[in-house]
Amino acid sequence: MWKPDRDSKKPIYEQIAAHLEQRIACSEFPPGSLLPSERKLAEQLGVNRSTIIQAFAELRSIGLIESQLGSGTRVSQTKWGVTPQYALNWRKYAEGGNFLPNVPFLRRIREALHQQPALIDFASGELAGSLAPTEEIQQLMREHTYTSYLGYDNPQGYVPLREALVTYLARYRDIQTTESSILITSGSQQSLFLIAQCLLSPGDAVAIEDPSYCYSLPMFQSAGLRLFRLPVGSSEGYVDEIRKLVKKHGIKMIFMNPNFQNPTGTLYDMARRSQLLDVASELGIPIVEDDPFSLTAYDSPVPPPLKAMDTGGSVIYIGSFSKIAASGMRIGWMVAPNAIVERLADARQQMDFGLSVIPQQIVAQFLTSAYFEPHLERLRLQLQFRRDSLLEAVRQELPGLLTYVAPQGGLHLWCKLVPKVHDGKLLEEAIRRGVVFVPGSVYGSSDGYVRFTYARPRDPREIGPGIAKFAEALREAAD
Ligand SMILES: Cc1ncc(COP(=O)(O)O)c(C=O)c1O
Repeated sequence: MWKPDRDSKKPIYEQIAAHLEQRIACSEFPPGSLLPSERKLAEQLGVNRSTIIQAFAELRSIGLIESQLGSGTRVSQTKWGVTPQYALNWRKYAEGGNFLPNVPFLRRIREALHQQPALIDFASGELAGSLAPTEEIQQLMREHTYTSYLGYDNPQGYVPLREALVTYLARYRDIQTTESSILITSGSQQSLFLIAQCLLSPGDAVAIEDPSYCYSLPMFQSAGLRLFRLPVGSSEGYVDEIRKLVKKHGIKMIFMNPNFQNPTGTLYDMARRSQLLDVASELGIPIVEDDPFSLTAYDSPVPPPLKAMDTGGSVIYIGSFSKIAASGMRIGWMVAPNAIVERLADARQQMDFGLSVIPQQIVAQFLTSAYFEPHLERLRLQLQFRRDSLLEAVRQELPGLLTYVAPQGGLHLWCKLVPKVHDGKLLEEAIRRGVVFVPGSVYGSSDGYVRFTYARPRDPREIGPGIAKFAEALREAAD
């Protein structure tokens, strides 16, 4: 461990300041991060606390760090990477490249969840750990050997998983396909990424839903796509809107999430599904059908996916293990024409040589095991219970303060707030009180909407207190 050189002519506080500056420049302490306390550093470096105070004063004077009473000393967000001492400007690289950062509210939520692990989390769009089939998967891992082959596998995906998915898709989604038409991805997110990067070009126009899945927005923009919006809510005039967009902007692809749409929970009816397919095949435009939630339907069955009705061959279908079992497995799938699957598998080979074979083996085992069906049954009941707990809490804590349509499947409740509020203020008030949600503007809607993911709180008993905290925050932000 570095220690100041007591024989050097350079004062010790200056040596310490230079040493810290170097660690900051190398991003050991990134912008905004907390430095160790004066007392801790003094102990580590074997110096008096007053020497550290002098070193911090030196770094504060060049704006590299900022101290706030009671909350420690942090690396400045604005000065990091522009320090005169070192020629290498990492900030230039960190802010370079073609990939846009996530939207600021999402970064703020991630930071809050990291800093305050006890927050009641209605923000992360995934299942609580307790809803995942952890014990079943552990049991399968005890029963089977997963390490018989550990070389690079086929970048299109592990064949037994693709075979298991052929049966799964026929049984649960009425989709008849073959393993050669399936590409395994590390979640739907990667399916969307591959489509945006490999099948489209910068400047291409695509239609997306309004509002729509938040992580796809910056990713599409990073690919240089021009985004045009189709309102999710209105069936009326929907097809005319598509025709207009195609005529005006030369739309190349349409992205849809027709079952329990994220964030609104909308379930497209049969009429809209048929109209969409008709217009896509008439205009020769592919539809990407993103379908991570359909198996969570609580009461009534969902209509067949577009892919199952697709006689014209217009649909790329993407699915995921994340919302029905475990997002950490990072397993998704795409069903597409063979030429597309081959093109994307070739891209996978260039990017990362395909997905690790071990989670693919485990998911193949799980989908074909006797555990899968009972897990789904349980998951649906638990999600329904959580939805009902949330609706009850909303009725009690927020009477007349928000409007919504109760979702019949999926993980989220989408609400319109009756009082006028600023999204940022509401989010900060909520975080201060120990609860976090996603403001609607993240999905491209105007201020005044929120998404609550009732699937996410660690325990359903957190839902009531979480909504009570949100209600306090709303009253404060609306004042
Ligand atoms: C509509 C939609 N598509 C895709 C994803 C990405 O999920 P994953 O990559 O875990 O499959 C999500 C996750 O929230 C989603 O809601």
